[in-house]
Parts: sequence; C-alpha cells; structure tokens
Amino acid sequence: MSETPTPHADHRDLREVPDLADMVFDEAFWDGRYRSAPTIWSGRPNPTLVAEAADLSPGTALDVGCGEGADVAWLAERGWTATGVDVSQVALDRAAAHARGAGLAARTTWLHLDATVEPPPGRYDLVSAHFVHLRPGMRDDLHRRLAAATAPGGTLLVVAHHPDDLAAGVPRPPIPELFFTADDVAGVLDPAEWTVITSEARTRPWTDGDGRDWTISDTVLRARRRA
Ligand SMILES: C[S@@+](CC[C@H](N)C(=O)[O-])C[C@H]1O[C@@H](n2cnc3c(N)ncnc32)[C@H](O)[C@@H]1O
Repeated sequence: MSETPTPHADHRDLREVPDLADMVFDEAFWDGRYRSAPTIWSGRPNPTLVAEAADLSPGTALDVGCGEGADVAWLAERGWTATGVDVSQVALDRAAAHARGAGLAARTTWLHLDATVEPPPGRYDLVSAHFVHLRPGMRDDLHRRLAAATAPGGTLLVVAHHPDDLAAGVPRPPIPELFFTADDVAGVLDPAEWTVITSEARTRPWTDGDGRDWTISDTVLRARRRA
C-alpha cells in the first residue's frame, strides 16, 4: 500500500479495537479513520500500480477505494484522465485538495459512493482497486462491478494484502475473511471475456510502525478484457 510505518499503516489502531471481528467497515468507520490524523497514507503511489501501469498507454482510469488519492494523482501526472471513488468524503476532500495543489484538477474527478451499493459509472481503460478488503459476499460483488466498469480491451488491476501475511505474523487486522487471493478475484471473471495476465502472491519488503522489517505478500490480479 502507499503506506508509511505509522500506527495507521500497520493497522495498529485497528488491532487494538475490541470486537473488531464484528465491526462494520462503512462510511462512518472510514470517515472516522481519516479524521483521526491529518494524513493516513504516505502520499506515494502503490508500487504495484507503478509497475503494472508502466506498459499501458494513458487513457481513462478508475481507482475504487482511492483513499487520499495518491494513485489517481500519479496516473493523472502520466497523462491519464483519472477518477477516484471512495466511500469516505473526508478522504476525497483531501485527495481533491492535493490534486488541485499539484495542478491536476483538470485530469482528476472524485466520486463519493459506496461501491458495494452503487456501481461506479462508466467504462474505463484501466480499473484499479488497491487494498479494499471487504467481507466475502460484498467482495465478489465489488470485483464483478470493477470488471463491468472495465472497457473492452481494458485492464483490471486488483491488489490486496495476501492471506499469507496473517500466517507469517505480519501486523494485519486479525479478521481472516477480509483477505483473499488473486485466484479468488479471477474466479468472478467470465473466461470468455477475460484473459488473466497475472494472478499471484507478490512479495515486497515492508517496515512496520516499530521499525521491524518484513517480507509481505500482495495479492496481484491483472486481467485484460477482450476487445
Ligand atoms: C486501506 S484503504 C486503501 C486506500 C488506497 N487505495 C491506498 O492504497 O492507499 C481502503 C479504502 O477503501 C475505501 N472503501 C472501503 N469500502 C469502500 C466501499 N464500499 N466503497 C468505496 N470505497 C470504499 C476506504 O474509504 C479507504 O479509503
């Protein structure tokens, strides 16, 4: 994730919540989380987006669960017309302010919606979602919606914390059902319409809020919708 080693980025604040397993991760939850600090994430784009978008020609992009908008801004800087969607207006206000400050207002659009309730509008050449961890039923619905929002010939990129992180003791919210593999995402794609290009657990180094170094695993699903 575009994470810094802060209490937020290593989910320490979540791990200390009693009854976490029963918690509803809705708009109120996310607004509260964003209000708890001036910034939650690093402001840097996610490394997997940077790697996977490198060979794509700029077009239209949709980032669902965009948070503070670092990925949307990075895409806009590279010539994409980019739309960020998030359930948290607090996060979107931050993202929009940053984009204005960086001279990216004309290339960026910010939409406040709950992607489990409302499908993101339109079709895009790149649809990306990084670290949107929903409970299983809602998660499959979200991934179907992301697929539907991908234009023919377009790319779908879903990145998440891999279930292996829990087994390895990486600091994560202790709710196993929130974690999923790339094959779980690929499973909702119609093979007649999609070519799966990457479906893997990709490791990278990461430092937690106590300065401990880890090798973490990201779920990476990249697929192309047939033209
Ligand atoms: C862990 S953060 C990741 C933010 C950003 N993608 C990044 O990598 O820095 C998850 C984001 O998903 C958003 N989110 C969670 N559930 C959502 C939903 N149902 N619809 C839209 N956004 C949602 C949250 O508000 C939050 O900004």
